[in-house]
Amino acid sequence: MRHPVTKAVIPAAGLGTRFLPATKALPKEMLPVVDKPAIQYVVEEAVRAGIRDVLFVTGRNKNALENHFDRATELEMILRRKGDEAKLLRVAESTDLANVHYVRQGDPKGLGHAVLRSKAHVGGDSFAVLLGDDIIDSRDPLLERMLEVHDQRDTCVVALMEVDTDQAHLYGIATVDATEEEDVVRVRGLVEKPEPGTAPSNLAIVGRYVLKPEIYPVLEQTAPGRGGEIQLTDALLTMADHHAQGGLHGVVFRGRRYDTGDRLDYIKANVQLAVEREDLGPGLRAWLKEFVGTFGD
Ligand code: UTP
Repeated sequence: MRHPVTKAVIPAAGLGTRFLPATKALPKEMLPVVDKPAIQYVVEEAVRAGIRDVLFVTGRNKNALENHFDRATELEMILRRKGDEAKLLRVAESTDLANVHYVRQGDPKGLGHAVLRSKAHVGGDSFAVLLGDDIIDSRDPLLERMLEVHDQRDTCVVALMEVDTDQAHLYGIATVDATEEEDVVRVRGLVEKPEPGTAPSNLAIVGRYVLKPEIYPVLEQTAPGRGGEIQLTDALLTMADHHAQGGLHGVVFRGRRYDTGDRLDYIKANVQLAVEREDLGPGLRAWLKEFVGTFGD
């Protein structure tokens, strides 16, 4: 058994331009999905996988995020005075969840640059990266499996999902070789957001990574790529060629994932997660049936 992964890095410093104007003063990771900010689902996922040390990479507008994971003394006092235990618990949930730390990215120079900002905190151990706007449904464990593959093969691991061909240009796309395990592939090549119609496969990288610390010197050497940003995908491609470092593997995920940085996916995430809730589900389901009926054919 290798040294267990104990640290998670959650980049949340992007500009979130697809979601303007909502993200003018609020990081997109703080947008609520039903009644919790997207990023709280992500921290809960890390904790479920046994990781309680969480480093947020933040940018401008970080106050809302910091406040969410901090005590809300005044609010707690009012709720306590009212004897509203249920709401008090809801307020405390995010405070007690994990040991949170922050580092600023400065200019948003890309995901690779955001990950590089975690170097001093992470040090010499492997670590997980969870994108703060990407929610994996808690019923479909992914990070646990990625940690297992990292542990067994001593390799960097990315999460891969099959996407429709017409969506491939929105993702980093991998070319892969099969392994003896049905859900694990060896990554041979990667291309970040290929031009429409040129994607070498339909296997897209989604927002979960387990990385070895050897990625840091590679990131330091990675020149700005697509869009003038330091791309994590470019550094991962270098890791794929580092056979002495175990190369790069992918876990093919077939569960439910919601990209809350995309407006349509964000709306779907709200509906899907609310429909399954005991408190909101029955009312929403009944209304949805009626509403859909008004569309005609
Ligand atoms: P995205 O590409 O989805 O974020 O990055 P974005 O640039 O904010 O999105 P749009 O296109 O303008 O709407 C994926 C993740 O990486 C983080 C983002 O916050 C998001 O969680 N990120 C991206 C950083 O932390 N820093 C960056 O420089 C870029």
